[in-house]
Amino acid sequence: MRWLNSLATRFAPLAFVVMACVALAQFLLQHSPDAAPLERYGHEAADFLHGHAWTLLGIAIVFWLLAFAGLFHDRHRKRHPDAKADGWVMDALDRLTNRSALEQKLAQEPEPQIIDAEKLADALKSKVIGQDAVCSDMAAQIRRRLALRQRNKPIGVFMLAGPPGTGKTYLAKCLAAELGRSLLHFDMTQFSGGAHAATQLFGASKGYVGSNTYGKLTAALRDTPDAVVLLDEIEKAHPEIHKNFLTAWNDGFITEASDGKQISTTRAIFVLTTNAATDDLQALSATYANDADELRRASTNALREAGFAPEVLNRIDRIFVFKSLSGLDIARVAALEIEAMIKSYGLDVANEGIDPDILIDMMRRQQRIGVGASSRDLVRAVEESLADTLIDAKQHGFARVRLVSDAGAVVARPEA
Ligand SMILES: Nc1ncnc2c1ncn2[C@@H]1O[C@H](COP(=O)(O)OP(=O)(O)O)[C@@H](O)[C@H]1O
Ligand SMILES: [Mg+2]
Repeated sequence: MRWLNSLATRFAPLAFVVMACVALAQFLLQHSPDAAPLERYGHEAADFLHGHAWTLLGIAIVFWLLAFAGLFHDRHRKRHPDAKADGWVMDALDRLTNRSALEQKLAQEPEPQIIDAEKLADALKSKVIGQDAVCSDMAAQIRRRLALRQRNKPIGVFMLAGPPGTGKTYLAKCLAAELGRSLLHFDMTQFSGGAHAATQLFGASKGYVGSNTYGKLTAALRDTPDAVVLLDEIEKAHPEIHKNFLTAWNDGFITEASDGKQISTTRAIFVLTTNAATDDLQALSATYANDADELRRASTNALREAGFAPEVLNRIDRIFVFKSLSGLDIARVAALEIEAMIKSYGLDVANEGIDPDILIDMMRRQQRIGVGASSRDLVRAVEESLADTLIDAKQHGFARVRLVSDAGAVVARPEA
Protein backbone atom coordinates (compact mmCIF):
# COMPACT_ATOMS: atom_id res chain seq x y z
CA MET A 1 0.00 0.00 0.00
CA ARG A 2 2.95 2.28 0.64
CA TRP A 3 3.71 2.62 -3.09
CA LEU A 4 0.08 3.51 -3.80
CA ASN A 5 0.16 6.17 -1.17
CA SER A 6 3.30 7.81 -2.52
CA LEU A 7 1.93 7.52 -6.05
CA ALA A 8 -1.22 9.27 -4.94
CA THR A 9 0.72 12.02 -3.21
CA ARG A 10 2.70 12.63 -6.38
CA PHE A 11 -0.17 12.34 -8.84
CA ALA A 12 -2.87 14.19 -6.97
CA PRO A 13 -1.80 17.59 -8.34
CA LEU A 14 -1.46 16.05 -11.81
CA ALA A 15 -4.94 14.56 -11.54
CA PHE A 16 -6.17 17.97 -10.58
CA VAL A 17 -4.58 19.58 -13.64
CA VAL A 18 -6.00 16.89 -15.95
CA MET A 19 -9.47 17.40 -14.51
CA ALA A 20 -9.18 21.15 -14.91
CA CYS A 21 -8.25 20.67 -18.57
CA VAL A 22 -11.19 18.30 -19.10
CA ALA A 23 -13.57 20.82 -17.57
CA LEU A 24 -12.14 23.63 -19.68
CA ALA A 25 -12.41 21.57 -22.85
CA GLN A 26 -16.01 20.63 -22.03
CA PHE A 27 -16.85 24.24 -21.38
CA LEU A 28 -15.30 25.41 -24.62
CA LEU A 29 -16.93 22.65 -26.66
CA GLN A 30 -20.36 23.48 -25.38
CA HIS A 31 -20.24 27.25 -25.07
CA SER A 32 -17.76 28.54 -27.58
CA PRO A 33 -19.53 29.95 -30.59
CA ASP A 34 -16.55 29.04 -32.63
CA ALA A 35 -15.31 25.57 -31.83
CA ALA A 36 -12.88 25.61 -34.69
CA PRO A 37 -9.68 25.87 -32.62
CA LEU A 38 -10.58 22.75 -30.73
CA GLU A 39 -11.72 20.88 -33.77
CA ARG A 40 -8.27 21.35 -35.10
CA TYR A 41 -7.26 18.56 -32.74
CA GLY A 42 -9.96 16.39 -34.17
CA HIS A 43 -13.35 15.31 -33.08
CA GLU A 44 -11.98 12.12 -31.66
CA ALA A 45 -10.11 13.80 -28.82
CA ALA A 46 -13.12 15.96 -28.00
CA ASP A 47 -15.40 12.92 -28.02
CA PHE A 48 -12.96 10.97 -25.82
CA LEU A 49 -12.92 13.73 -23.22
CA HIS A 50 -16.64 14.07 -23.40
CA GLY A 51 -17.34 10.35 -23.14
CA HIS A 52 -14.85 9.63 -20.30
CA ALA A 53 -15.38 12.69 -18.15
CA TRP A 54 -16.91 10.69 -15.25
CA THR A 55 -14.19 8.02 -15.34
CA LEU A 56 -11.45 10.64 -15.25
CA LEU A 57 -13.22 12.46 -12.44
CA GLY A 58 -13.47 9.18 -10.49
CA ILE A 59 -9.75 8.44 -10.90
CA ALA A 60 -8.88 11.96 -9.75
CA ILE A 61 -11.07 11.61 -6.64
CA VAL A 62 -9.40 8.31 -5.71
CA PHE A 63 -5.95 9.95 -6.00
CA TRP A 64 -7.02 12.87 -3.86
CA LEU A 65 -8.45 10.62 -1.18
CA LEU A 66 -5.23 8.64 -1.01
CA ALA A 67 -3.21 11.84 -0.84
CA PHE A 68 -5.31 13.07 2.09
CA ALA A 69 -4.92 9.75 3.88
CA GLY A 70 -1.14 10.00 3.40
CA LEU A 71 -1.10 13.51 4.83
CA PHE A 72 -3.07 12.40 7.91
CA HIS A 73 -0.75 9.45 8.45
CA ASP A 74 2.36 11.66 8.25
CA ARG A 75 0.95 13.99 10.88
CA HIS A 76 0.20 11.05 13.16
CA ARG A 77 3.79 9.89 12.81
CA LYS A 78 5.12 13.31 13.65
CA ARG A 79 3.14 13.27 16.87
CA HIS A 80 4.70 9.90 17.79
CA PRO A 81 8.26 10.42 16.62
CA ASP A 82 9.59 7.17 18.13
CA ALA A 83 7.08 5.10 16.16
CA LYS A 84 8.89 2.47 14.18
CA ALA A 85 5.98 1.62 11.91
CA ASP A 86 6.38 2.81 8.41
CA GLY A 87 3.85 3.54 5.72
CA TRP A 88 0.61 1.76 6.26
CA VAL A 89 1.86 -1.15 8.29
CA MET A 90 0.12 -0.71 11.64
CA ASP A 91 2.41 -0.66 14.67
CA ALA A 92 2.13 -3.92 16.58
CA LEU A 93 1.84 -1.88 19.78
CA ASP A 94 -1.12 0.12 18.47
CA ARG A 95 -2.81 -3.08 17.46
CA LEU A 96 -2.03 -5.29 20.44
CA THR A 97 -1.86 -3.04 23.49
CA ASN A 98 -2.67 0.37 24.85
CA ARG A 99 0.40 2.08 23.47
CA SER A 100 0.04 5.43 25.17
CA ALA A 101 -0.39 3.68 28.55
CA LEU A 102 2.76 1.71 27.79
CA GLU A 103 4.68 4.87 26.90
CA GLN A 104 3.46 6.60 30.05
CA LYS A 105 4.57 3.70 32.19
CA LEU A 106 8.00 3.66 30.58
CA ALA A 107 8.31 7.36 31.28
CA GLN A 108 7.72 6.58 34.94
CA GLU A 109 10.58 4.08 35.06
CA PRO A 110 13.37 5.41 37.21
CA GLU A 111 16.32 6.98 35.48
CA PRO A 112 19.56 5.13 36.06
CA GLN A 113 21.06 6.51 39.21
CA ILE A 114 24.74 6.89 39.98
CA ILE A 115 25.50 6.78 43.67
CA ASP A 116 28.77 7.19 45.53
CA ALA A 117 29.50 3.63 46.70
CA GLU A 118 32.27 4.71 49.04
CA LYS A 119 30.05 7.22 50.79
CA LEU A 120 27.29 4.64 51.16
CA ALA A 121 29.75 2.03 52.46
CA ASP A 122 31.16 4.49 55.02
CA ALA A 123 27.69 5.46 56.20
CA LEU A 124 26.75 1.80 56.66
CA LYS A 125 30.02 0.95 58.41
CA SER A 126 29.56 3.79 60.87
CA LYS A 127 26.31 2.21 62.01
CA VAL A 128 26.71 -1.51 61.43
CA ILE A 129 29.77 -2.48 63.42
CA GLY A 130 32.20 -5.27 62.58
CA GLN A 131 30.72 -6.02 59.14
CA ASP A 132 32.97 -3.81 57.01
CA ALA A 133 33.38 -6.32 54.19
CA VAL A 134 29.61 -6.79 53.93
CA CYS A 135 29.01 -3.03 53.94
CA SER A 136 31.55 -2.37 51.17
CA ASP A 137 30.33 -5.25 49.04
CA MET A 138 26.70 -4.25 49.49
CA ALA A 139 27.42 -0.62 48.53
CA ALA A 140 29.31 -1.71 45.41
CA GLN A 141 26.47 -4.04 44.39
CA ILE A 142 23.84 -1.36 44.87
CA ARG A 143 25.85 1.16 42.88
CA ARG A 144 26.26 -1.20 39.93
CA ARG A 145 22.62 -2.20 39.92
CA LEU A 146 21.20 1.29 40.27
CA ALA A 147 23.28 2.41 37.29
CA LEU A 148 21.61 -0.08 34.93
CA ARG A 149 19.19 1.48 32.49
CA GLN A 150 17.32 -1.62 31.42
CA ARG A 151 15.95 -3.70 34.21
CA ASN A 152 13.10 -6.14 34.22
CA LYS A 153 13.91 -7.55 37.62
CA PRO A 154 14.30 -6.00 41.05
CA ILE A 155 17.37 -3.84 41.61
CA GLY A 156 18.73 -6.64 43.74
CA VAL A 157 17.77 -9.74 45.70
CA PHE A 158 20.25 -9.99 48.55
CA MET A 159 20.54 -12.61 51.25
CA LEU A 160 22.10 -11.62 54.58
CA ALA A 161 23.15 -14.74 56.46
CA GLY A 162 24.79 -15.10 59.83
CA PRO A 163 24.35 -15.62 63.56
CA PRO A 164 21.46 -13.88 65.34
CA GLY A 165 22.18 -10.42 66.65
CA THR A 166 24.99 -9.56 64.26
CA GLY A 167 23.18 -6.69 62.55
CA LYS A 168 21.42 -8.27 59.56
CA THR A 169 18.03 -6.72 60.16
CA TYR A 170 19.76 -3.55 61.28
CA LEU A 171 21.76 -3.32 58.03
CA ALA A 172 18.57 -3.56 55.98
CA LYS A 173 17.08 -0.71 58.00
CA CYS A 174 20.23 1.40 57.66
CA LEU A 175 20.36 0.71 53.92
CA ALA A 176 16.80 1.94 53.42
CA ALA A 177 17.52 5.05 55.50
CA GLU A 178 20.76 5.84 53.65
CA LEU A 179 19.14 5.42 50.23
CA GLY A 180 16.12 7.47 51.32
CA ARG A 181 13.79 4.57 50.52
CA SER A 182 10.92 3.32 52.60
CA LEU A 183 11.40 0.01 54.36
CA LEU A 184 8.73 -2.68 54.02
CA HIS A 185 9.54 -4.98 56.90
CA PHE A 186 8.00 -8.45 56.84
CA ASP A 187 8.66 -10.72 59.77
CA MET A 188 8.57 -14.02 57.88
CA THR A 189 8.05 -16.08 61.05
CA GLN A 190 4.42 -14.92 60.69
CA PHE A 191 4.09 -16.62 57.33
CA SER A 192 4.82 -20.22 58.17
CA GLY A 193 1.30 -21.39 57.34
CA GLY A 194 1.22 -22.02 53.56
CA ALA A 195 -1.97 -20.97 51.76
CA HIS A 196 -3.23 -18.65 54.49
CA ALA A 197 0.12 -16.90 54.66
CA ALA A 198 0.16 -16.45 50.88
CA THR A 199 -3.26 -14.83 51.12
CA GLN A 200 -1.99 -12.37 53.70
CA LEU A 201 0.91 -11.34 51.49
CA PHE A 202 -0.54 -11.54 47.99
CA GLY A 203 -4.31 -11.15 48.53
CA ALA A 204 -7.21 -13.59 48.29
CA SER A 205 -8.89 -14.77 45.07
CA LYS A 206 -12.43 -13.65 44.37
CA GLY A 207 -15.05 -15.39 46.48
CA TYR A 208 -12.70 -16.00 49.40
CA VAL A 209 -12.59 -14.15 52.68
CA GLY A 210 -10.49 -11.03 52.29
CA SER A 211 -10.85 -10.77 48.52
CA ASN A 212 -11.97 -7.17 48.86
CA THR A 213 -8.63 -6.03 50.24
CA TYR A 214 -5.13 -6.20 48.86
CA GLY A 215 -2.42 -8.42 50.32
CA LYS A 216 0.12 -6.75 52.63
CA LEU A 217 3.00 -7.06 50.19
CA THR A 218 1.06 -6.22 47.04
CA ALA A 219 -0.56 -3.16 48.64
CA ALA A 220 2.73 -1.93 50.04
CA LEU A 221 4.62 -2.34 46.76
CA ARG A 222 1.79 -0.72 44.82
CA ASP A 223 2.08 2.34 47.08
CA THR A 224 5.87 2.45 47.43
CA PRO A 225 7.49 0.72 44.46
CA ASP A 226 10.94 2.12 45.38
CA ALA A 227 11.01 0.36 48.74
CA VAL A 228 13.59 -1.84 50.39
CA VAL A 229 11.58 -5.02 51.00
CA LEU A 230 12.95 -6.80 54.06
CA LEU A 231 11.94 -10.46 54.31
CA ASP A 232 13.27 -11.05 57.79
CA GLU A 233 14.19 -14.59 58.81
CA ILE A 234 13.02 -15.94 55.49
CA GLU A 235 13.82 -19.56 56.42
CA LYS A 236 10.90 -19.50 58.88
CA ALA A 237 8.32 -18.89 56.12
CA HIS A 238 6.55 -21.80 54.46
CA PRO A 239 8.53 -23.16 51.46
CA GLU A 240 5.54 -22.41 49.22
CA ILE A 241 5.83 -18.77 50.25
CA HIS A 242 9.43 -18.78 49.06
CA LYS A 243 8.22 -19.95 45.66
CA ASN A 244 5.59 -17.23 45.56
CA PHE A 245 8.43 -14.76 45.40
CA LEU A 246 9.93 -16.29 42.26
CA THR A 247 7.93 -14.17 39.80
CA ALA A 248 8.78 -11.09 41.85
CA TRP A 249 12.47 -11.86 41.40
CA ASN A 250 12.49 -13.47 37.93
CA ASP A 251 9.84 -11.60 36.01
CA GLY A 252 9.70 -8.27 37.79
CA PHE A 253 6.13 -8.38 39.07
CA ILE A 254 3.80 -9.92 41.61
CA THR A 255 0.16 -10.63 40.99
CA GLU A 256 -2.48 -9.43 43.43
CA ALA A 257 -4.91 -12.34 43.75
CA SER A 258 -8.08 -10.31 44.35
CA ASP A 259 -8.09 -8.42 41.05
CA GLY A 260 -5.29 -10.09 39.09
CA LYS A 261 -3.34 -6.83 38.76
CA GLN A 262 0.39 -7.08 38.18
CA ILE A 263 2.47 -5.01 40.52
CA SER A 264 5.97 -4.18 39.41
CA THR A 265 8.95 -5.13 41.54
CA THR A 266 11.59 -3.64 39.25
CA ARG A 267 12.22 -0.59 41.38
CA ALA A 268 12.48 -2.47 44.67
CA ILE A 269 15.45 -3.91 46.52
CA PHE A 270 14.75 -7.25 48.25
CA VAL A 271 16.77 -8.03 51.35
CA LEU A 272 16.34 -11.49 52.87
CA THR A 273 17.86 -12.38 56.21
CA THR A 274 18.46 -15.82 57.62
CA ASN A 275 19.99 -17.46 60.66
CA ALA A 276 20.16 -20.80 58.81
CA ALA A 277 23.42 -22.66 58.22
CA THR A 278 25.28 -20.07 60.27
CA ASP A 279 28.28 -22.16 61.29
CA ASP A 280 28.81 -23.62 57.83
CA LEU A 281 28.57 -20.23 56.18
CA GLN A 282 31.04 -18.65 58.57
CA ALA A 283 33.55 -21.42 57.99
CA LEU A 284 33.08 -21.10 54.23
CA SER A 285 33.47 -17.33 54.20
CA ALA A 286 36.80 -17.75 56.01
CA THR A 287 37.97 -20.50 53.62
CA TYR A 288 36.97 -18.71 50.40
CA ALA A 289 37.59 -15.14 51.50
CA ASN A 290 39.35 -14.41 48.19
CA ASP A 291 37.28 -16.47 45.81
CA ALA A 292 33.83 -14.95 45.38
CA ASP A 293 32.61 -17.52 42.84
CA GLU A 294 33.60 -20.50 44.93
CA LEU A 295 32.15 -18.88 48.06
CA ARG A 296 28.86 -18.39 46.29
CA ARG A 297 28.73 -21.98 45.12
CA ALA A 298 29.60 -23.37 48.54
CA SER A 299 27.21 -21.01 50.35
CA THR A 300 24.39 -21.97 48.03
CA ASN A 301 25.05 -25.62 48.82
CA ALA A 302 25.04 -24.98 52.54
CA LEU A 303 21.73 -23.13 52.31
CA ARG A 304 20.23 -25.87 50.17
CA GLU A 305 21.15 -28.38 52.83
CA ALA A 306 19.46 -26.10 55.35
CA GLY A 307 16.20 -26.47 53.42
CA PHE A 308 16.08 -23.71 50.80
CA ALA A 309 14.77 -24.78 47.39
CA PRO A 310 17.39 -24.65 44.61
CA GLU A 311 15.24 -22.42 42.38
CA VAL A 312 14.92 -19.91 45.20
CA LEU A 313 18.67 -19.89 45.88
CA ASN A 314 19.30 -19.65 42.18
CA ARG A 315 17.51 -16.35 42.02
CA ILE A 316 19.41 -14.70 44.84
CA ASP A 317 21.87 -12.19 43.44
CA ARG A 318 24.30 -12.28 46.32
CA ILE A 319 24.77 -13.90 49.70
CA PHE A 320 26.46 -11.75 52.35
CA VAL A 321 27.84 -13.59 55.34
CA PHE A 322 27.86 -11.74 58.68
CA LYS A 323 30.51 -12.36 61.33
CA SER A 324 29.94 -12.83 65.05
CA LEU A 325 30.84 -9.76 67.00
CA SER A 326 33.97 -9.97 69.09
CA GLY A 327 36.41 -7.84 71.09
CA LEU A 328 36.09 -4.09 70.79
CA ASP A 329 33.20 -4.44 68.33
CA ILE A 330 31.03 -5.51 71.26
CA ALA A 331 32.04 -2.33 73.09
CA ARG A 332 31.27 -0.28 69.96
CA VAL A 333 27.80 -1.75 69.60
CA ALA A 334 27.17 -1.25 73.32
CA ALA A 335 28.30 2.39 73.14
CA LEU A 336 26.07 3.08 70.14
CA GLU A 337 23.13 1.39 71.88
CA ILE A 338 23.69 3.49 74.99
CA GLU A 339 23.85 6.67 72.91
CA ALA A 340 20.62 5.73 71.09
CA MET A 341 18.88 5.03 74.38
CA ILE A 342 19.95 8.33 75.95
CA LYS A 343 18.63 10.15 72.88
CA SER A 344 15.36 8.25 73.00
CA TYR A 345 14.73 9.92 76.39
CA GLY A 346 15.26 13.32 74.82
CA LEU A 347 18.67 13.68 76.49
CA ASP A 348 22.12 14.25 75.08
CA VAL A 349 25.32 12.40 75.90
CA ALA A 350 28.40 14.37 76.99
CA ASN A 351 31.61 14.10 74.98
CA GLU A 352 33.45 10.96 76.16
CA GLY A 353 30.46 10.67 78.46
CA ILE A 354 30.34 6.86 78.86
CA ASP A 355 32.52 5.41 81.61
CA PRO A 356 34.78 2.70 80.07
CA ASP A 357 33.96 0.47 83.04
CA ILE A 358 30.36 0.31 81.86
CA LEU A 359 31.48 -0.97 78.48
CA ILE A 360 33.93 -3.45 79.99
CA ASP A 361 31.11 -4.75 82.16
CA MET A 362 28.96 -5.31 79.12
CA MET A 363 31.75 -7.10 77.24
CA ARG A 364 32.27 -9.44 80.22
CA ARG A 365 28.58 -10.12 80.34
CA GLN A 366 28.59 -11.11 76.66
CA GLN A 367 31.59 -13.36 77.20
CA ARG A 368 29.81 -15.06 80.10
CA ILE A 369 26.81 -15.82 77.90
CA GLY A 370 29.26 -17.51 75.50
CA VAL A 371 29.10 -18.43 71.82
CA GLY A 372 25.36 -17.92 71.57
CA ALA A 373 25.62 -14.32 72.82
CA SER A 374 23.95 -11.93 70.46
CA SER A 375 23.72 -8.18 70.45
CA ARG A 376 20.12 -8.59 71.44
CA ASP A 377 21.37 -9.67 74.84
CA LEU A 378 23.51 -6.57 74.76
CA VAL A 379 20.57 -4.34 73.92
CA ARG A 380 18.60 -5.90 76.74
CA ALA A 381 21.47 -5.35 79.17
CA VAL A 382 21.73 -1.70 78.14
CA GLU A 383 18.02 -1.21 78.66
CA GLU A 384 18.07 -2.85 82.07
CA SER A 385 20.98 -0.92 83.46
CA LEU A 386 20.04 2.49 82.02
CA ALA A 387 16.29 2.93 82.08
CA ASP A 388 15.84 4.02 85.71
CA THR A 389 18.73 6.43 85.92
CA LEU A 390 17.74 8.08 82.63
CA ILE A 391 14.17 8.57 83.83
CA ASP A 392 15.55 10.19 87.00
CA ALA A 393 17.80 12.44 84.92
CA LYS A 394 14.85 13.50 82.82
CA GLN A 395 12.80 14.23 85.95
CA HIS A 396 15.58 16.45 87.31
CA GLY A 397 15.51 18.40 84.09
CA PHE A 398 19.02 17.44 82.91
CA ALA A 399 19.69 18.05 79.23
CA ARG A 400 23.12 16.49 78.87
CA VAL A 401 24.39 13.55 80.89
CA ARG A 402 27.55 11.63 81.67
CA LEU A 403 27.25 7.95 82.63
CA VAL A 404 29.43 6.69 85.46
CA SER A 405 29.77 3.31 87.07
CA ASP A 406 28.99 3.61 90.77
CA ALA A 407 29.32 0.49 92.90
CA GLY A 408 28.28 -1.76 90.02
CA ALA A 409 25.31 0.42 89.03
CA VAL A 410 25.14 2.92 86.17
CA VAL A 411 24.34 6.51 87.19
CA ALA A 412 23.53 9.45 84.91
CA ARG A 413 25.13 12.69 86.12
CA PRO A 414 24.30 16.13 84.73
CA GLU A 415 26.83 17.74 82.41
CA ALA A 416 26.90 21.40 81.55
N1 LIG B 1 26.84 -5.18 63.88
C1 LIG B 1 26.07 -4.35 64.60
N2 LIG B 1 26.37 -3.05 64.66
C2 LIG B 1 25.60 -2.21 65.38
N3 LIG B 1 24.51 -2.58 66.04
C3 LIG B 1 24.18 -3.86 66.00
C4 LIG B 1 24.92 -4.82 65.27
N4 LIG B 1 24.36 -6.00 65.41
C5 LIG B 1 23.29 -5.81 66.17
N5 LIG B 1 23.18 -4.54 66.55
C6 LIG B 1 22.14 -3.97 67.41
O1 LIG B 1 21.36 -5.04 67.88
C7 LIG B 1 20.02 -4.95 67.40
C8 LIG B 1 19.57 -6.33 66.95
O2 LIG B 1 20.33 -6.74 65.84
P1 LIG B 1 19.66 -7.30 64.51
O3 LIG B 1 20.07 -6.50 63.36
O4 LIG B 1 18.21 -7.46 64.73
O5 LIG B 1 20.34 -8.72 64.45
P2 LIG B 1 20.07 -9.89 63.41
O6 LIG B 1 19.04 -9.43 62.46
O7 LIG B 1 21.39 -10.18 62.80
O8 LIG B 1 19.60 -11.05 64.24
C9 LIG B 1 20.05 -3.96 66.28
O9 LIG B 1 18.86 -3.25 66.20
C10 LIG B 1 21.21 -3.07 66.65
O10 LIG B 1 20.76 -2.06 67.49
MG1 LIG C 1 17.11 -10.11 62.40
